[in-house]
Amino acid sequence: MKSSEHRFQTFFEPFRIKSVEKIQHTTRAQRIQRLEEANFNPFMLNSEDIIIDLLTDSGTGAMSSDQWAAIMKGDESYAGSPSYRKFEAVVKEIFGFRHVIPTHQGRAAERILFQCSLKEGDVVPNNAHFDTTQANVEKRGAKAIDLPVSEALNPEVCTPFGGNMDIKKLTELLSNGLKEHVTLVMITVTNNATGGMPVSMENIRMVSKICRSRGVPFFLDACRFAENACFIKMFEKGYTHRTPFEIAREMFSYADGCTMSAKKDGLVNIGGFLAMNDGQLADKCRQELMISEGFLTYGGLAGRDLEAMAVGLRESLEEEYLQYRVGFVKMLADLLKEHHIPVLMPPGGHAVYIDAAAMLPHIPREQFPAWALGCALYVEGGIRCGELGGVMFGRDDKGLENGHELEDGKRELLRLAIPRRTYTESHMRYTAEVLEYVNRHKNEVGGYRITWAPAVLRHFSAHLEPIFPPNQEHENGFGIEGR
Ligand SMILES: Cc1ncc(COP(=O)(O)O)c(C=O)c1O
Repeated sequence: MKSSEHRFQTFFEPFRIKSVEKIQHTTRAQRIQRLEEANFNPFMLNSEDIIIDLLTDSGTGAMSSDQWAAIMKGDESYAGSPSYRKFEAVVKEIFGFRHVIPTHQGRAAERILFQCSLKEGDVVPNNAHFDTTQANVEKRGAKAIDLPVSEALNPEVCTPFGGNMDIKKLTELLSNGLKEHVTLVMITVTNNATGGMPVSMENIRMVSKICRSRGVPFFLDACRFAENACFIKMFEKGYTHRTPFEIAREMFSYADGCTMSAKKDGLVNIGGFLAMNDGQLADKCRQELMISEGFLTYGGLAGRDLEAMAVGLRESLEEEYLQYRVGFVKMLADLLKEHHIPVLMPPGGHAVYIDAAAMLPHIPREQFPAWALGCALYVEGGIRCGELGGVMFGRDDKGLENGHELEDGKRELLRLAIPRRTYTESHMRYTAEVLEYVNRHKNEVGGYRITWAPAVLRHFSAHLEPIFPPNQEHENGFGIEGR
C-alpha cells in the first residue's frame, strides 16, 4: 500500500472532548414566551433557554486540559504572584511590549488606556471601533472615527483583507484641521464591527509608518490577533512559510502597545491586558489600575486566570488549531451561501455575518432588520446571535432613537459568533437548517421598535417590541408557522 500520508481530505477538530455540557431543548411556544419576558432583547434571555448560543465568541470557548491543569497551579498571593510572572513572560514573548498590565477583560484595558491618554476634544481613528471601545473613547469626551476601507462596506466585493484601515482617509485626517486632536490611532484585528475581516501586515505597517512620522502613538486592539495572523499566513504574499507566532511578533513590532480581551484569542473565559512600550504612560495606567482593578500583579483576576491565559495565548497560535478554527467558520459560511443567505464573504476567523438588510429588504432600517432576524432565529430554532446594526450603533443622546443614522462602516449585520472549541459540525448544520427555514419564510418576519433604552451601550439592556405589518396574520405574534 502506498503511503497514506496527506491523502485524506476530511477536516476534523484537532481535539477530543473530555467533558460535555447538556443542551436543554425548548419548544417554540416556550421561546416566544421567554423572548417576551426578555423584552425582545436576546441579551436578556437565560442561557438555559438557548439551544445554540452564537451571541459571542467572547469568553465562551472551551479550555484545554493543559489550561485546567495550569489553573491548579495558580498562586493567589495578593502581590508578587509567580502566576503573574509566568503570564507576563508569555505576553512579552508573543507581543514584545515592555510593560504588561493585567486587566479583568478588554474593556478595562480600554478604559484605563483612554483615561490616561485622552482628553475632551481628542480624536481616535480606528479601522472600526467596537462598541465598548467607542463607548470608552466617548466617555472621555473624545471622538471615535471609523476609517474602514470601502471594500468593507460593499458586500459585492470579496477581498481577503476587508478589515484594513483606509490609508488615504487617515492621511487626510492627519493633514486637516483635526490633526492636533489625534492623540492615538488604533487598528482592530480582526475588524469585528464591519464583518470580522482581517487586516493585512502591509496595512498595519503603513499605518505605523504614518503614525511614527507624526509622533502619534499607534495601538492594536488585539483580541483576535492569532486569527488575524493565520489570515496573513494564508493570503498575504511573503508569509506562507512564516509561523503564526512569527507573524504575530511582526504585527506587534509596528505598534506602540495594545489592548487585549483574552476572552477571544487568549482562549479563556475571563481575562485581558494592556501592554505598551512607553514607561511613563505605563506608570499612569498602573495607578489607574490600582484604583479600580487591583494590584499590579493581578489586575482584577485570580492567579489561576493568569495561568490559564499564559497557556491559552500560546495554544491560540498553534497552526493546527488555527487552521481548524478558520476552516470551521468558513464551513458555516459556505453552508449558508448554499442556502442563498447573504453572508459577508470571505468570512473572518470568529463569526459569520449575515447582511440582514439584504436578506429582509421589506423591513426598513429604522425597524432594525438585523435585530428582527436575530429574534426570528431564536423563536424558530433556539439560536441566539448578536446584532451589529441600528440597535447597537445608532443612538441619540437619550438612547431612544428608533430611526438611526449609521456612520460609515456600520451596517445591518447579524453576527453568528462561534465560540472556540465548543460546538461541532452538526451544531453548525442545524444552524444552517434553521436559517434556511427562516429565509424561506422571511416575508413573515416583521420589524421592531425600541420602547426603552439606556444612553450608553443600549443594545445590552434595551427593551423592544415587534411591529407587525398591517393586514398580515401572525400566529402568536410571529408570522412563521410552528416547527
Ligand atoms: C474588537 C473588540 N474589542 C474589544 C472588546 C471588549 O472586550 P471585553 O468584552 O473583554 O471587554 C471586544 C469584545 O467583544 C471586541 O470584539
